[in-house]
Amino acid sequence: MLPCVIVVFVLLSCACGENPAVQVILTNKGLQYGKHEGTGWIQEKLEKITFPDISGSVNIHIGRVYYTLSGVTIKKCDLPEPSVEFVQQSGLTTSIAGLSFALAGEWRNHFGLIHDSGSFDMAIFNIDVTSAVKLGSNAGGHLSVTSVNCTASVGDVSMQFHGGASWIFQPFVKYFKGHIIGIIQSKICPEVEDTIMNLDHHLQAMNVSFDVNEVLSFDVPLTGDPDIEPSNMKLGFKGEFHSIETHAEPPFVAQEFVLPELAGYMLSVGLSEFTLNSASFGYFSAGQLQAFINDSMIPPYIPFRLNTSAMGGFIPQLPKMYPGLLMNLQVNARDAPMFSFQPGSGVLDVHICVKASATESNGTQVPLFTLYIDSRFTGKMMIADGKLKGSMMLNNVTLTLGSSEIGDFKTDALENGIKSGMVVVLGKLNAKLGEGIMLPRMKHAQLVNTVLKMQKGFVGIYSDVQILQTDRSSYLSTSYL
Ligand SMILES: *[C@@H]1O[C@H](CO)[C@@H](O)[C@H](O)[C@H]1NC(C)=O
Ligand SMILES: *[C@@H]1O[C@H](CO)[C@@H](O)[C@H](O)[C@H]1NC(C)=O
Ligand SMILES: *[C@@H]1O[C@H](CO)[C@@H](O)[C@H](O)[C@H]1NC(C)=O
Ligand SMILES: *[C@@H]1O[C@H](CO)[C@@H](O)[C@H](O)[C@H]1NC(C)=O
Ligand SMILES: *[C@@H]1O[C@H](CO)[C@@H](O)[C@H](O)[C@H]1NC(C)=O
Ligand SMILES: *[C@@H]1O[C@H](CO)[C@@H](O)[C@H](O)[C@H]1NC(C)=O
Repeated sequence: MLPCVIVVFVLLSCACGENPAVQVILTNKGLQYGKHEGTGWIQEKLEKITFPDISGSVNIHIGRVYYTLSGVTIKKCDLPEPSVEFVQQSGLTTSIAGLSFALAGEWRNHFGLIHDSGSFDMAIFNIDVTSAVKLGSNAGGHLSVTSVNCTASVGDVSMQFHGGASWIFQPFVKYFKGHIIGIIQSKICPEVEDTIMNLDHHLQAMNVSFDVNEVLSFDVPLTGDPDIEPSNMKLGFKGEFHSIETHAEPPFVAQEFVLPELAGYMLSVGLSEFTLNSASFGYFSAGQLQAFINDSMIPPYIPFRLNTSAMGGFIPQLPKMYPGLLMNLQVNARDAPMFSFQPGSGVLDVHICVKASATESNGTQVPLFTLYIDSRFTGKMMIADGKLKGSMMLNNVTLTLGSSEIGDFKTDALENGIKSGMVVVLGKLNAKLGEGIMLPRMKHAQLVNTVLKMQKGFVGIYSDVQILQTDRSSYLSTSYL
């Protein structure tokens, strides 16, 4: 019965002792929604469970009748909505009261040498089940779930026998009914505990690290046990990207942050700047932050040609030394671009090195100069109409001449040229960012009523979740069982 409430954890999915860089808060509202959505699934599951054969004997004054009830199938199951609650610093309790089943099956009995058989209808009323589980984390950073206790009781059973000499048998139901109630009662908790163990196996098998693309992998083991209060459960994840190739650790660590609770949302996610910076460092350490740029790669809307003649305005001696040659640029990040988040906005610092060369008509590359460009961008992010939108602004760009094969030159003009080039590029980028990108939509759930707040050191995303009704059963069965 528990799997339904863990749905929400699995939907998120996506180490110990360090600060979590990704924090997730599942509120009671989210728990109740998950439970409500899961109830239909439990009902479907219950209707498919197989009942074991029940055998016993009853003394009918003139001797002992041995009976077997077999081929029991569920005709109908009436499942009242269960209740699920967080338990302070422990886990969850789930209880169902008043569950009833209508069943049908075959009966066989023998009394001395007489064998007889027929069919029966059975109703089991008022089954109450309460189960408490502990949620924790294991050394591998997986969420773990273990059964703490379970109680089950069956209110009553009624039976109607058909066929054979069932009229002889029927009056004795009251004598063996207790035996049948006892058997059913004793099977419920082991069944619940099995389900919890299966769920735990499933959780242990989940990957806590996965490849995002061919360059980066993302590590999301839990950094500690879930922090559970009656109103919510907080989970902390490592949230670190690595280069698949180098697996180098970034030269910075996650800073502690407190994700504020915002009432009324099912789910809150805090994403620290460390997570973004580890991705940036991953690309950098994999040698991905470099580019070769030649004239034909510069889009026509940029007023900047990579031609020694066209560069005369910035570097007067260049067209004199090498007239009319095409140029190319080897661009490398000097270090990983770093994000830092502030309330309401974020800053991105980028430090690059540009080596310029000219191409002689015979193909020879002539090195011209090396520039260092330090730029700072300010950006905003927001979520509106189910889309992630943003804008980027150039704050500052500084050009420094590193070395030159063509003699010294003033960089002011070139700096202004690069600035206007960047402004044009940012204009195009902002048009795209303004249109927004759809929030990632999982196959079986989507985020609704989502808001994003930039804070010092992290962004907080607050959202409700909507489970898509289509195909729910197949999703749940594939992701759990
Ligand atoms: C079952 O465990 C829960 C949580 O630890 C506890 O609150 C409850 O009292 C226990 N119930 C029984 C019957 O032991
Ligand atoms: C877990 O990761 C491994 C290796 O990256 C992959 O082969 C496997 O299919 C993944 N398992 C799941 C359940 O995603
Ligand atoms: C620029 O580089 C691209 C890809 O390396 C190449 O296809 C193109 O011909 C180059 N253009 C010039 C003008 O060198
Ligand atoms: C570079 O620009 C000059 C003047 O704008 C032009 O005459 C020349 O053909 C260009 N060089 C190449 C290789 O395109
Ligand atoms: C290419 O031409 C330049 C001058 O036009 C010359 O200095 C250089 O030696 C030539 N390189 C080759 C490989 O021919
Ligand atoms: C631009 O950046 C440099 C160094 O990165 C700094 O000294 C300067 O004050 C900045 N200018 C502005 C206008 O922010």
